[in-house]
Amino acid sequence: MTQKPTSDALVLFGASGDLANKMLYPALQAMVKRDHFDMPVIGVSRSEWDDAHLRDHARDSVQQSHTMDKPAFDKLAGMLHYVPGDYRDPATFDKLQQALNGAKHPLYYLAIPPSTYSDVVKGLDRIGATRGARVVAEKPFGRDLASARSLNQTLHHVFEEDSILRIDHYLGKETVLNLPYFRFANSFIEPIWNRNHIRSVQITMAETFGIGSRGKLYESLGAIRDVVQNHMLQVVAMLAMEPPQGEHGEAFRDEKVKVFKSIRPLTAEDVVRGQYQGYRQEQDVAADSDTETFAALRLHLDSWRWAGVPFFIRAGKRMAVTATEVMVELKRPPQKVFDEPRPRHPNHVRFQLGPDRVAIGIGVRAKRPGPAMVGEDMELFVCDQKHEGMSAYERLIGDAIRGDVSQFDREDGVEEAWRIIEPVLKQPTSLYDYAAGSWGPAEADALIAHYGSWQAPRVKS
Ligand code: BG6
Repeated sequence: MTQKPTSDALVLFGASGDLANKMLYPALQAMVKRDHFDMPVIGVSRSEWDDAHLRDHARDSVQQSHTMDKPAFDKLAGMLHYVPGDYRDPATFDKLQQALNGAKHPLYYLAIPPSTYSDVVKGLDRIGATRGARVVAEKPFGRDLASARSLNQTLHHVFEEDSILRIDHYLGKETVLNLPYFRFANSFIEPIWNRNHIRSVQITMAETFGIGSRGKLYESLGAIRDVVQNHMLQVVAMLAMEPPQGEHGEAFRDEKVKVFKSIRPLTAEDVVRGQYQGYRQEQDVAADSDTETFAALRLHLDSWRWAGVPFFIRAGKRMAVTATEVMVELKRPPQKVFDEPRPRHPNHVRFQLGPDRVAIGIGVRAKRPGPAMVGEDMELFVCDQKHEGMSAYERLIGDAIRGDVSQFDREDGVEEAWRIIEPVLKQPTSLYDYAAGSWGPAEADALIAHYGSWQAPRVKS
């Protein structure tokens, strides 16, 4: 891998926004605490703040995340500077240039709506601050294939592809990174990891909470754009990819893009959309909103390894539990040897991806002690522990600073993901309502019925 220059300043566009508040300041403090971060942080936004105001804001943010570490925070506070201004105003970028103080490799974090990317890129270009720099763009990258292409063009106008880091925080999660690690660091998995042994794969991303104060944004997204096009498809890619030639550089991304290319565009028969009862009464939500807060999907992968194995996804808000889990169901043994009712659950491999827990369980049958040859379902745990390591943002900001692009989305990957889901965005399917605290609309059960039923994630705290 060619060594890329390490960033020497972090510029946070959208410094007063929700993402910076919830995710970025706590991640920066955690990095400082580990001695992984030491550079000026220049917050930019329209709010008429000064350095002191930004520091207070960052302190509140870290306190709200319950991670305050005073020495680390004080150190971070000393790195924070603020530049107020409109992204269309050249004066904003003149002030930014001064604040950059000769930094040669700034990292620009675009925690701002994609509609403002083009103004920022123009402003940076005008002050000659894009050479040697990198840019981080948040998900979802665009709202369909055409807008993703246009955003790519905007960024490519001044940045090379390997300086554009399209972030999807799922790719920084310990639990998600454990999927390819578990697959490719062991030899016993590979022989069964294909259509000969696997019957179906299901991924559930359930959240008990609703949209909170994000009504305005969520109305423009819906569950498919918010989490399926990105987080869920990335999990599918990690489960389905061929072994990459090493962990760095383009190897991972090449293999993930091949998976995306093998996935058929969705049709109406493969999707069930739902909306929780009460959603239309949420703040900033239209009284006749057609936005889905739940989606269940069936994906078909046309590849040698996966042909005929359906990948089911369901993701929803205001569900029965908060948990993300992958259930890989294996085929039943070919013959019935023991005179017992067929086991209800065949073998499986289960990955718990969240919240805050790394668990891999292998479902087996074992004989119950006693005279009869009858058994029971059991689960062997490869690991089952609370995850207290780096947060996803912490890891990915660290990667971005070092210029390691392997866990960021590439142009072709993001466009392929839109290609897969675009047909059902252009022609939305029926919307079914579901009770808050349930598992979504009953119609989602029909999607999977031929393969059994949705498995509720096993929640453990
Ligand atoms: C975000 C979505 O990207 O991911 C949210 O916009 C969702 O709607 C969140 O709640 C889930 O992330 P995590 O890390 O809590 O599983």
